[in-house]
Amino acid sequence: MTIYSVFQLEEWFERYEFEVDHLLGSSSCAGMTMEELCQITGETVDFAGSSLGATPGPGSDELREAISTWYKKGAPENVYITSSSTEAIFLLIESILSPGDSMIAMFPMYPALYQLAEDNGTEIRHWHLRHENRFEPDLDELKELVDDTTKLIVVNNPNNPTGQIMLRDDLQHLVHFSQEHGIRLWVDEVFRGITVDGGPVTPSIRDIDSTTISTGSMSKSFGLSGLRVGWIAAPEEVLEALIHIRFYTTVTAPVMEQKIATVAHRNRDKVIGRNQAILDRNYTYLKQWMGKRNGVFDWVEPKGGPVTFPKFIDSVNTDDFCLKLAEDYSVLVPSGNYSFNAEGFIRIGFGHSSGFEEAMSRVGDALNQFLK
Ligand SMILES: Cc1ncc(COP(=O)(O)O)c(C=O)c1O
Repeated sequence: MTIYSVFQLEEWFERYEFEVDHLLGSSSCAGMTMEELCQITGETVDFAGSSLGATPGPGSDELREAISTWYKKGAPENVYITSSSTEAIFLLIESILSPGDSMIAMFPMYPALYQLAEDNGTEIRHWHLRHENRFEPDLDELKELVDDTTKLIVVNNPNNPTGQIMLRDDLQHLVHFSQEHGIRLWVDEVFRGITVDGGPVTPSIRDIDSTTISTGSMSKSFGLSGLRVGWIAAPEEVLEALIHIRFYTTVTAPVMEQKIATVAHRNRDKVIGRNQAILDRNYTYLKQWMGKRNGVFDWVEPKGGPVTFPKFIDSVNTDDFCLKLAEDYSVLVPSGNYSFNAEGFIRIGFGHSSGFEEAMSRVGDALNQFLK
């Protein structure tokens, strides 16, 4: 049996998520009620009249159709609904990789995207987003990471935790590189549609090349993390390869959650627009807050998504700092060291619907005390 590593980021959330006043480190946009979703979209979900029978394994026709329209050349047959994108990650890793293979993984990145593969015997080669390069990916470095064992490149765009993005030219380059070496390319696009400071929207990798894989989620840009609905958009042979594994996990996604996700997807612009407005407001405050702390953080501003990864200028034990924040200030922020193997950083999320300023003010108080 696979011995699974401790998923430190998620364990940190599990420990404090429902205890603290402020979930400042979250990478999800602010949650909403059913009522708010109906108000924003102008639609209702017919709960009483809906069948509670299961949908087909790849998901309900209506949700697959709604999601497929987010991809320029998308067809419902290429969309496979999962119970959260965490399940999508599991299925892809299990179906694509075998012990002895190697995989190129952007780093830092949401750990599930590579840790599971490593636990299964795949060698992980980090493609670094370096702070000293303002987290810009260096495409030349890819050449040093590839050999005959390399089966997969995994990228997260926009990236969690750095907020770095890849735009069309760089993605095109990545597609050429993976094609040249016969490697499958997978981009986790759970933050798709969210911009920072009026910056560009990241294109989907599948709008550039149809042999690639894109994964998405209702949790992040949509702010509907309780639905636990995600998806894979991929060539049919990739989907066929994971179906038999899916019979051992959830078989199909929950029916009512898919209905709600369908309403949200049919009204993507309105739902993501609601979250973007919250993010923009909080980001304006965050910039001012950071501006007053130039001597504390060497901050590379994010370019996409709802999180940022400031680095302390002085050597600070971020594990201790984040523990203090949680225990004494009731604010949850993941430590870069503990959660992402990146020493000296903390991750801040700015998707809060209320209380963001109060949470940041508590971080300021904690800093004053901790750095004395
Ligand atoms: C980049 C990334 N991908 C996937 C996930 C998993 O999201 P979910 O399982 O809620 O769809 C997360 C969660 O934080 C994430 O940050």
